[in-house]
Amino acid sequence: MDQKLSGKTALVTGASSGQGAAEARLFAQSGARVVLADIADDAGEELAKAIRDAGGDARFQHLDVADEDNWRSVIAQIGSEFGGLNILVNNAGIPLRGGNITNTSLADWNRLMSVNLTGAFLGIREASPLIRDSNGGAIVNTGSIAGLTGHFATAYSASKWGLRGITKSAAMELIDWKIRVNAVHPGLVHTPLVEESVDFVKALADQTPMERGATSEEVARVVLFLACDESSYITGHDIAVDGGFTDIGGYWRVLKQVMAQPDQRI
Ligand SMILES: NC(=O)c1ccc[n+]([C@@H]2O[C@H](COP(=O)([O-])OP(=O)(O)OC[C@H]3O[C@@H](n4cnc5c(N)ncnc54)[C@H](O)[C@@H]3O)[C@@H](O)[C@H]2O)c1
Repeated sequence: MDQKLSGKTALVTGASSGQGAAEARLFAQSGARVVLADIADDAGEELAKAIRDAGGDARFQHLDVADEDNWRSVIAQIGSEFGGLNILVNNAGIPLRGGNITNTSLADWNRLMSVNLTGAFLGIREASPLIRDSNGGAIVNTGSIAGLTGHFATAYSASKWGLRGITKSAAMELIDWKIRVNAVHPGLVHTPLVEESVDFVKALADQTPMERGATSEEVARVVLFLACDESSYITGHDIAVDGGFTDIGGYWRVLKQVMAQPDQRI
């Protein structure tokens, strides 16, 4: 495996499951010292151990991304233990099923925003000085196609659109600290986050030009690219990792429908 992150320290939030877990594994395989952060302690400890057993450098750290004090202590600990931080992946996120605007409670709205949006804000605010003092680095935020297009879950969509605003503002404000800030926007990814939404998963896979969802590893490879020096001239950017859903999905469906006619004419 190419050691693209050799000598780097990376913090990945939401690393106990799904995409965050894949990112932690890939980063470790790429030579990074990885701090896996999550509220799911047992799964995170287990994964960190599995990474170490496979020869990687990883440790788990309890972190509720919505908790300001928790962020402060985690960053302080990374600073004192490792002497620096180069990469932050704000990946932790929660969904809101069936949450259209007329039936979303304020409590659900606030809970979702506190994780998906405030979590990234706090992470960038708290980690950036340490990344600056480590000679700069990269921050990658995990958005969603729900933040690229209209979407039926208002709070979730708003949180992911908001994350794009944070990405672009932070990219501008942190450029003098040599910190690049970018975002990935996954479409359907087969993780525990969507596994209960069977009809949704099937419909979204069917409506995606590649006619399937992504694996967590496919997203992790894009996050690795944005985190490492191969993307050294990219900042403030959104990358959809969605099998073509956002950019070509509309006309792909039109084309598919037309081509299905026996005497089709475009
Ligand atoms: N799965 C998809 O189809 C999909 C699509 C687009 C975007 N996303 C986004 O990808 C990201 C990762 O999701 P996933 O699909 O891997 O889901 P997942 O449920 O497998 O993993 C999410 C992780 O975040 C952790 N988490 C939840 N709240 C937290 C908190 N307050 N503090 C710290 N950690 C917390 C969970 O414990 C879990 O380990 C999320 O931001 C999600 O919104 C997922």
